Amino acid sequence: MPGRVRVHVAARAVNPADLGTRAGDFAAMTPDLTFPAVLGWDFAGTLLDDAAASADVAPDGVLAAGTRVAGFVPWFGEAAGAGSYAEVIVVDPAWVTPVPDGVSDAEASVLAMNALTGAHAIDLLASLAGDLDGSTVLVTGASGPVGAAAVRDAVGRGARVLAVGSADDDAFVAGLGAEVLPRTDAAGIAAAARAVVPDGVDGVFNAGLASHELLDAVRDGGTFVSATRGFMPEPARGITVDGVHVEPDAPRLARLLRDAADGTLPARVAEELPLADAADAHRRLAKGGLRGKLVLVS
Ligand SMILES: NC(=O)c1ccc[n+]([C@@H]2O[C@H](COP(=O)([O-])OP(=O)(O)OC[C@H]3O[C@@H](n4cnc5c(N)ncnc54)[C@H](OP(=O)(O)O)[C@@H]3O)[C@@H](O)[C@H]2O)c1
Repeated sequence: MPGRVRVHVAARAVNPADLGTRAGDFAAMTPDLTFPAVLGWDFAGTLLDDAAASADVAPDGVLAAGTRVAGFVPWFGEAAGAGSYAEVIVVDPAWVTPVPDGVSDAEASVLAMNALTGAHAIDLLASLAGDLDGSTVLVTGASGPVGAAAVRDAVGRGARVLAVGSADDDAFVAGLGAEVLPRTDAAGIAAAARAVVPDGVDGVFNAGLASHELLDAVRDGGTFVSATRGFMPEPARGITVDGVHVEPDAPRLARLLRDAADGTLPARVAEELPLADAADAHRRLAKGGLRGKLVLVS
């Protein structure tokens, strides 16, 4: 395609969406997909061609071949089937941003789609709810990169954040600036939130995909944003319900990667595995219990 550039991929995270795609969960979103297809959303690697870039990403408007970059393939769009589980991919230059020193390829790949999703979710919550400063926000899935970035951004906007992570991961979640609630089912999480904020929280970001009872945590007229449409409750009590849909956003990703470089945004890599071990990585992700992402390297 004209204007597209090649990236030699060094690292790509294994995400829940990869397992869901393989299982056919997203067939309705990829009606033209044919097999064999290549999975994989986020990537970090090296540009093989010069790439045009916005001034936010490269002051002189060009990222030169050889630059270390990260980004993600919007797999449910026109790139369906041409994902990052490949050694070389062809991308729109608008999808990529340079990776700063101090951030490894594996770390950049963990953040490239996921941290952007958490950031976009808090943008959406703020646009629906108004200013988050002084509000109370509940985030599920705070041990994962989507939820962790969301907690960090909501705290940064002045919200009081209650968060649920994985079992035995309280120190990590508290380190993001949240008050930690126990990891239990959706009704239990909602009850725990109501014990802290009896009138209900102003907003929820459901990155952990707790089920519909989580809506009970929200005050009348509040806001509920979900990471997946399958976990969006029917609106009730005047609550606005919406879903985040991440889009490539190179300038925002550049800022998130700079935050990772200066240590204010965590990027947890559970383990790096050879690309050839993708099937094993999928089995391990399905089994659960990971702290951070499995990253396939080549
Ligand atoms: N809409 C978009 O554009 C978009 C983009 C990227 C990702 N996503 C979605 O965002 C979600 C989070 O992604 P991620 O990469 O951060 O996932 P992840 O690394 O797998 O982390 C998910 C976290 O959620 C927790 N969790 C799972 N089920 C839960 C439940 N029923 N109640 C409370 N917590 C629960 C997990 O805890 P345990 O370890 O205890 O299970 C874990 O801490 C995924 O579903 C992903 O598909 C959406």
